[in-house]
Amino acid sequence: MKICSIVGARPQFVKLAPLEKRFKKCCQHMVVHTGQHYDYEMSQVFFKGLQLPEPDYNLGVGSLSHGHQTGEMLKKCEEVLLFESPDLVLVYGDTNSTLAGALATSKLNMKLGHIEAGMRSYRRDTPEEINRLLTDHLSDLLFCPTGTSVSNLRREGIEEGVHLVGDVMLEALEDNISIARSSSEISEELSLKPKGYLLLTVHRAENTDNAQSLASIARAMSQLSQKVVFPMHPRVEKMLKQFDLYENLASETHLILSPPLSYLDMLKLTENARAVLTDSGGLQKEACYLETPCITLRTETEWVETVESGANVLVGTEVDRILGAVEDVENRGEIQWMRVNPDSPPSAKIWEIIAQNIA
Ligand code: UD1
Repeated sequence: MKICSIVGARPQFVKLAPLEKRFKKCCQHMVVHTGQHYDYEMSQVFFKGLQLPEPDYNLGVGSLSHGHQTGEMLKKCEEVLLFESPDLVLVYGDTNSTLAGALATSKLNMKLGHIEAGMRSYRRDTPEEINRLLTDHLSDLLFCPTGTSVSNLRREGIEEGVHLVGDVMLEALEDNISIARSSSEISEELSLKPKGYLLLTVHRAENTDNAQSLASIARAMSQLSQKVVFPMHPRVEKMLKQFDLYENLASETHLILSPPLSYLDMLKLTENARAVLTDSGGLQKEACYLETPCITLRTETEWVETVESGANVLVGTEVDRILGAVEDVENRGEIQWMRVNPDSPPSAKIWEIIAQNIA
């Protein structure tokens, strides 16, 4: 059997890792990188850290407007799929690479599987929600990470091909956390003590491209007295400069601004932070899994279980709410930290389902 995975953005390389490890033992697996993320820190460093082989194809699409980027990827994915004729194409998560891969596959009448199916934020004004909705409705096999994602699909009339398999991102974390603990030197490099700092990431367009939201997050960070480590996605760095917020943040001695960090460094920083402040979906889960309280800079989340468990709070971008949540980190009451069943990892379940369903 020949499986083709289409990936392109940072979190997709993480989701790919456990599956690549599994597939290489049991089938022919090829990887297409769309080129959506191309900087060394956004792409190659993940392939290296996760010990992923070089992609079989790099489509080199890069940063363009949504339509243009998705269109270019669609064209180039189609060429590869026609040439390779895989038995199954897998797409991951909710980026433009996901949607382009899904469209190319279904237009060719090939079988399509979606890893991390059924997630919904119910915010149609974000590109991710459009990407996940359309991809789910095109998929033959829908691999759901949570019970909520299965129910979301059912509400949209999708029941066939739906499988609850658990979260491949948490499997990747399980596979890599001890390596991160022993090999990452990021805490020493940045002179950080366990629980002596906050970890901040911001990258979603609804925060970075909105001057008011970004200024509000920046103001909250300036007003904190504790150390804050802020690895910056290229988009947020660009927009901080565009909105004249960067210089002020860079002059604050308690703020440590850094380029994007590797997966292992991020795991290490997440595990040892007093709290994580983020608008990333993946980091919300990783924090909750590593028993680090999470403060989400959004008003909704696809990962509702993280909030129900008490490990995550949604605060949006208002200064007072962010500062209040930081102050309250130690007073959240009892938290049910997330767990993964080690006897039945998601990648094993996914392979079993593929083997049963794809000729
Ligand atoms: C994309 C996904 C988002 C995901 C995120 C993970 C979409 C619509 N969004 O957002 O769901 O959570 O990846 O990181 O697909 N840039 C660089 N170097 C790079 C990549 C990007 O400088 O290697 C800059 C460019 O200025 C670019 C901007 O970042 O215009 C945004 O990149 P893009 O790939 O469009 O979306 P992300 O914000 O990374």
